[in-house]
Amino acid sequence: MQAAGAGIRVPLKLFALLPRLLPASRNFANAATVSTEEPETATPPPSPPSATCSMKMRGWQLHSYGGIDELQLSNKLKWPQIRSSDECLVRVRTTAVNPIDIAMLGGYGSTLLNQLRCQANDDIEFPLTLGREFCGELVQKGMGVCDKQLPLGTRVWGVVPIPNPNGAHAEYVVVPSSCLAPAPKELDDGEATSVLYAGLTAWSGLYLTGGLGGPCGATTSEGGGAHKRVLVLGGSGSVGSLAIQILKSQRAQVLATCSEDAVEMVRCLADYVVDYTKPDANEQLCTYAPYDIVLDCAGQGGQHASDLPYDFRQYITFNSPLLANIDKSGLCLGSLQNFSDLVQTNVRAVTQRGGLVKWGYFFPAAHGIEFLQRLVERRKLIPLIDSSFDFNDMPKAFERLKCGHMRGKIVVKV
Ligand SMILES: NC(=O)c1ccc[n+]([C@@H]2O[C@H](COP(=O)([O-])OP(=O)(O)OC[C@H]3O[C@@H](n4cnc5c(N)ncnc54)[C@H](OP(=O)(O)O)[C@@H]3O)[C@@H](O)[C@H]2O)c1
Repeated sequence: MQAAGAGIRVPLKLFALLPRLLPASRNFANAATVSTEEPETATPPPSPPSATCSMKMRGWQLHSYGGIDELQLSNKLKWPQIRSSDECLVRVRTTAVNPIDIAMLGGYGSTLLNQLRCQANDDIEFPLTLGREFCGELVQKGMGVCDKQLPLGTRVWGVVPIPNPNGAHAEYVVVPSSCLAPAPKELDDGEATSVLYAGLTAWSGLYLTGGLGGPCGATTSEGGGAHKRVLVLGGSGSVGSLAIQILKSQRAQVLATCSEDAVEMVRCLADYVVDYTKPDANEQLCTYAPYDIVLDCAGQGGQHASDLPYDFRQYITFNSPLLANIDKSGLCLGSLQNFSDLVQTNVRAVTQRGGLVKWGYFFPAAHGIEFLQRLVERRKLIPLIDSSFDFNDMPKAFERLKCGHMRGKIVVKV
């Protein structure tokens, strides 16, 4: 195991040499799509190794919300079951820990998410397995999953939709086939695990919420946004570092903020970097305003937008109060509170900074995965890994994330 905080696995110098500068080599050809055709014959699934004797698997579970000590490792979990024809069972080789896992551990979003989970799975609230992304091997699939595009045994990368109670912090996970695709051979398992959750968050914020590429950018894997000026707050974290690389690949002009020790790293990615801890940080950022988009990947929230001393057309934050308001006040009152929060922050932002405030979210779109896959294949997107842990040390991985100052992703080898 690499010790927590042992450093970024992609050497900083590599950044200076690699990224966006390498020529595009080939086109994406392996998008995950859900076939409407049934395969001619149903292939019998290979038996997952640890399951042949016991039909049980290892996994981390929660039986109640709380702190990291609520995480319990069990080797007697039932495999998750394929329940519809478009689902796939994956043997997980690597997974990751994200801020949403820490938040869900503490009960964040439980009111709404639990309702969705119960509707989808006839399930009770607990036990819950966290983990939103994985790289692994396709071991079983529903009859509606096209054999040509996703043959059994394929090395896949994928994400787990938030309402799914069986996450990827286990030996096996079931997801809809639209949430996975053949893993890019350019990345090893750990690297492949570190792209999709944060990458789809950044992609969705820019293209679905921000409309950076117009209708085509939102509905296809085309991207877009050339010559737009975007400020990424929190350029050193998982979402921020991928957002910068996505934007640079589309020839946008990218400014980013981070703290002092990450400046060298972020400078290899963005056009201009500002250390947000310096007293003149805002002054520097004012020089380049107005921004087409300010993308908040630093947990600042929408309230922060009207306090900024520079103008923008859109301020997109990934820290919306949506789920927290519903947790606090219930579905009806919480939704009203959300509407009121959004209107208030927008009135302030429009009058003071001339732009709109929007809430961005992770969204598991197949064309978003296709977009990211294409960037990896063209070597325009290099994953950053903060640290790696063994499966048995999952609580240590959570501790590392809780300490903050992330420089990329936390990966866990299953
Ligand atoms: N809504 C959604 O669906 C969704 C999905 C994914 C993530 N998120 C949210 O998006 C945020 C980013 O996620 P992540 O996975 O990238 O987290 P992360 O890896 O922990 O990155 C956060 C980064 O922000 C930096 N930072 C903290 N305060 C800052 C400030 N004032 N100005 C600039 N940078 C600052 C941190 O570095 P230093 O502390 O060293 O400066 C760190 O590198 C989190 O708040 C997460 O909860 C939301």
